[in-house]
Order: sequence, then structure tokens, then C-alpha cells
Amino acid sequence: MTKLRKVVLAYSGGLDTSVILKWLIEKYDVEVIAFSADVGQQEDLNLVREKALKTGASKTYVLDVKREFLEDYCFRALKAQALYEGKYPLGTALNRPIISKYLVKIAEEEGADAVVHGSTGKGNDQVRFETSVRALNPNLEVLAPVRDWEFKSREEEIEYALKHGIPVEITKDKPYSIDRNIWSISIECGILEDPWVEPPEDAFLITKNPKFAPDEPEYLTVEFDKGIPVGINGETLDPVMLMEKLNEIGSRHGVGRIDIVENRLVGIKSREVYEAPGATILYVAHKELERMCLDRETFRFKEYLSIKYAELVYYGLWFTPIKEGLDAFMDKVNETLSGEVRLKLYKGSVTPVGRRSKYSLYDYELATYDVKDTFDHKAGEGFCKIWSIPYSILARKKKD
Ligand code: ARG
Repeated sequence: MTKLRKVVLAYSGGLDTSVILKWLIEKYDVEVIAFSADVGQQEDLNLVREKALKTGASKTYVLDVKREFLEDYCFRALKAQALYEGKYPLGTALNRPIISKYLVKIAEEEGADAVVHGSTGKGNDQVRFETSVRALNPNLEVLAPVRDWEFKSREEEIEYALKHGIPVEITKDKPYSIDRNIWSISIECGILEDPWVEPPEDAFLITKNPKFAPDEPEYLTVEFDKGIPVGINGETLDPVMLMEKLNEIGSRHGVGRIDIVENRLVGIKSREVYEAPGATILYVAHKELERMCLDRETFRFKEYLSIKYAELVYYGLWFTPIKEGLDAFMDKVNETLSGEVRLKLYKGSVTPVGRRSKYSLYDYELATYDVKDTFDHKAGEGFCKIWSIPYSILARKKKD
């Protein structure tokens, strides 16, 4: 490695990235620029900025990227109906490519030689950061100090922090590792590492326990334009306001608690808990519009691609030709996903109860069993005969 002069660090303000900041300066005598993104983690980023400067950053970037995160990352996953292993709406995984994009941009503008992230050596996030950064600029070095520094425990890190005047929250040790953004919250560690134990109430940050959710259901209408959510209950909302509102309504009804043992990219299984009230509502609503507006073959084939799309996101392959190719497909088939879905929220559940669209393929006169029925019943006879030809032949052959 050539001598480092200047690096850009993805800085959250937490213990790990603060120790990284100081450690980099001590170890490499390098200039560190701290980048913090507002992705809806509900933290005061002015304090984060101050902490970065106090800890030795030469310069800070604090950017609100919530809207871009929703429009260019989360809503793309929604249009693809991407849920990792059938459950996880990918909040953390979607967040890494946008952070990487800005790390690279700032590094290029500032003439830095490396970018730095705070992920560990056995998680998914290291892969996502590094693959994204290299796909955008292969000439930048990527450093992951947590993977190779000398500290063997949190205690040693805290000791280092205190020795260097880095403020450490004196609150009793936070039992969970939490990664939060406007799309979803990832919660792991502590007692959750026992997959037999039900997540305790204190693991959840925003959703109400369904048991204590209102005894009356709440009805909600979500409007979509070409597969993108654009309004709630007749009110047009920008992406950030829409998401905040859905998170609030969903949380109130205990919607979007997810408990999963998932396959990490590095081969191990881990037990994860997620909270995604707004995203859960959107996935249910969007799928319902697909049922109404997509022809059978498109609907079916899209379901296969959803699995692949989710894998690509989870595996850190955001800035790749295959993922962009899938986006082109998803854009095309979402062209007719405009309309409204009516949902019922009740004690942790979201149930679609109504749907309408100018692109609806539902034909009342073909579907009805009353006198208005225009379906050609007679044609059913020929259809059945021809449909069953392969099996008639098989059966006859078997007899011979
Ligand atoms: N398992 C999830 C993922 O790979 C979440 C990881 C979240 N990290 C955390 N610090 N809780 O996307």
C-alpha cells in the first residue's frame, strides 16, 4: 500500500467509527474527512458532525439523502417486490450502495486515496461497501480497520476512546446492534442470538406490540403511479413524507415486525429482527396491484425475478449490469401499476380489501356467474380436450 495522505470515512458517530477516526490518524498520520448521511436514522447529525471534528476530522460532509435513498434504491426494490429469503425488505442492504456512492464522490472531489467503512469481517456490509466502491472507482483503496486493528473487545475500544478523549455514552451497555433508516430497522445481537428466544419487547424501536394496538381496524388507501407510491388516502405526498406517515400508521398497529434466521453472504446463518412498518404496507399494496394489472405470464415470471433481485441487493451487487438489466425489466412491467389499493390494518396485520386501476385486467362480464356472463362456456370443451392431449397420450401408452 502506498502511503495514505487523505481518506474519506463513513462516519456514524458511534463508538466504532469514532475509534476508527482517531486510530487512522494515529496509525497512518493521515487526513480524515468524515461523511455522515441522513437516511432517516433519527439522530442529530449536527452533534455527529461536532463529534467528528472534535475527534480529529479535518472536514465533514453531512448530507440528507433520504429522498434519493427512497426514490433510487428502496422504491426500485419495491417495484421488483424484492424480499430477501421471502421476508427481509433489505433496508440495510439498500443503504450501503448509496453510502458508497457518496464516499466515492467525495473522495474524487477531495482527491483522497482511500475510503473507509466500519464493518466487521464476518458481516454482509463489508462486501456491499467494497463491491460498490470498486464498481464505481477501482482505483480507490478501501480500508476496514475493524477487520484488522488490535482491539479484541468492546472494552478495549472503550478504553482507547476514553484515553483519547472520545465521548463514550455512559448509559448501560446497549444490548443490541441497530442499523436504522427510513425503510427499515435491523436489530441483532444480545439475547436475539438465541434463535429459540422470542424477541423481547425492548428489541423493538418503533412498532407497538400488536397486543396493545387499537382494537378497531384502520383503513388506508395507497395510490401508485407506475409502481411508485405517490399518495395516501387521496393526499399526494413526496416520498419522505409518505414513508414517514406509513411508518407512523403501521407502527401504531404493530405492523412490520419480522423475525428471521437468514443466510449471510459469508456462509453463516444469523438471527435478525427487523421493523419495517411502512415498507410492509407498501409491499402488500404493490403486490395487490400486480395481481390486478399484470397478465398471468408477466406476473409469474416477475415472481422468479424478485428472488434474484433480492439476492443481488443482499449480495452487494447493486452497481452491476445484471441488476441494471433487471431494473429495465421492472420499469417496463411497472408501467401499468397505477391505481389504488385499500388496506385494513389490524393488530399486526395488513390485509388488502380493495383495489382499482385504469389498467385493471379484471373483466366483470367474463368473471361473473350471473346473467351478465359473456364467457363462451362452449369453448371450454375444446380447451379441455386440447389441454389434456399430452396426458391422454401418456395414459394410452402406459396401458399398451
Ligand atoms: N442482516 C442484515 C443485512 O445484512 C442487517 C445487518 C445490520 N447490521 C446491524 N448492525 N444491525 O442486511
